[in-house]
Amino acid sequence: MSSTTHRVEIDEIIDDKIAENETLFQVRLKNPPVKFWLPCDKMPSEDLIIKYVIRLIPTLPSGRREVARNFDRIYDLVKKPVKNELNNLMNSFRTLRGLELPFSNYYFVLKSLQNLIHERITDYEKIASVRRDILVEEMIKERQSQLENLKSTEIDINIISDHRKPIKVVNDYDLEKFPSSLNYINEQIFTKSGEKKMEKVIIGCECKSSEECRRSSCSHYDFERDVLSVIQPTKKAKAGEHSNLVVVPYDDRGRSLNMYPKFECNELCKCDANCSRKVVQKGSNVELEIFRTFSGCGWGVRTLEAIEEGTFVCKYAGEILLWEEAKKRDCHEYLFDSEYSHDWNKGHSRYIIDGYRYGNISRFVNHNCEPNLSVQIVCIENISVELGEICFFAAKDIAANEELSINYKDLILRHHQTCKCSTCYDYYE
Ligand SMILES: C[S@@+](CC[C@H](N)C(=O)[O-])C[C@H]1O[C@@H](n2cnc3c(N)ncnc32)[C@H](O)[C@@H]1O
Ligand SMILES: [Zn+2]
Ligand SMILES: [Zn+2]
Ligand SMILES: [Zn+2]
Repeated sequence: MSSTTHRVEIDEIIDDKIAENETLFQVRLKNPPVKFWLPCDKMPSEDLIIKYVIRLIPTLPSGRREVARNFDRIYDLVKKPVKNELNNLMNSFRTLRGLELPFSNYYFVLKSLQNLIHERITDYEKIASVRRDILVEEMIKERQSQLENLKSTEIDINIISDHRKPIKVVNDYDLEKFPSSLNYINEQIFTKSGEKKMEKVIIGCECKSSEECRRSSCSHYDFERDVLSVIQPTKKAKAGEHSNLVVVPYDDRGRSLNMYPKFECNELCKCDANCSRKVVQKGSNVELEIFRTFSGCGWGVRTLEAIEEGTFVCKYAGEILLWEEAKKRDCHEYLFDSEYSHDWNKGHSRYIIDGYRYGNISRFVNHNCEPNLSVQIVCIENISVELGEICFFAAKDIAANEELSINYKDLILRHHQTCKCSTCYDYYE
């Protein structure tokens, strides 16, 4: 059995028009020679556009008014980038010092194009060079508008954010703006189905001082021990090895000491603000940046300062959904479930947090096969471990400017995505 692969190749552009503010090209295929209209950003190469302009210029009428009208038409034709062209152009201005874009030279560019039309120049190189100058102007405009978008996003995020240090938003990779579908929030919120099932039970401890909350007499310690005994027999056995020690969740500097679910002191407790069982509720104290990765993973998060192992970094905010609701959602890339919400009879989590439409910085954390963050459950104003805060802590000492990552290989595989994490990338190199 033989199969022939047919490559659809465009022979030439034969006409252009503007419909609903968009430039369309009428193209003819090589084989079969059918004609159809194609929007500019679907054009496979700039070569076709330049050749079209070469054929167009000599046919333009020469009257003054017509020249002016045709100038607009030609300008509109050549200023449209084909796929990825502006991003590639931006790359050509990358130096060892970083991105160095030129200053705008708009007047000069208009003059050159006017000259082409007036002199009826049909030289490929000249037209290509004027087109490139025009695209550089378009790129500068796009970059300006992107920087304004990122700056205003950064301001909006920091008005809302509960982090103690400002969050930065940068993109020096391409011209992508911040995702407009995201509404920034700090907490897990109820929008739909989860609401009916959730009941909040808050219990404080009777400790008279913060010092007492470090001992096994603190009632939060009982919750921690109970969760381990009910949900994770293997973890309980491990905890049992230390049964003569008090397994407090945090050290006196607020760093996580183990991977077990933690119960923080709350407003009903009699201890003070310095209690070492109060960490996540005080907000992250790490300087973080949402940035556009160079690995092709889209946005990511990096730390702008060194982080010590065990430090609380951020928690996953989003909509609380019942599993049945979550699976109906269009985008599954920001769904997060905790192992403590697992329903063993049904084989999936009862509750899922969706960070797609409502979320915070955590929904930008990428997957790495050797992650530098670990996921831990922390209950603050709620004793239900299945609806605890999903918190990211430093799994090792992390250097300034490192990208932060957790492990969600199963999601990457489920979406048939190639893992582009630094661990796999090094491996293939
Ligand atoms: C929770 S989001 C992370 C933020 C995402 N990069 C963005 O731009 O919004 C998960 C998605 O990011 C991408 N991603 C994260 N880690 C990746 C990896 N190691 N390799 C490839 N894609 C990854 C995948 O598209 C995945 O579905
Ligand atoms: Zn206590
Ligand atoms: Zn306390
Ligand atoms: Zn990987």
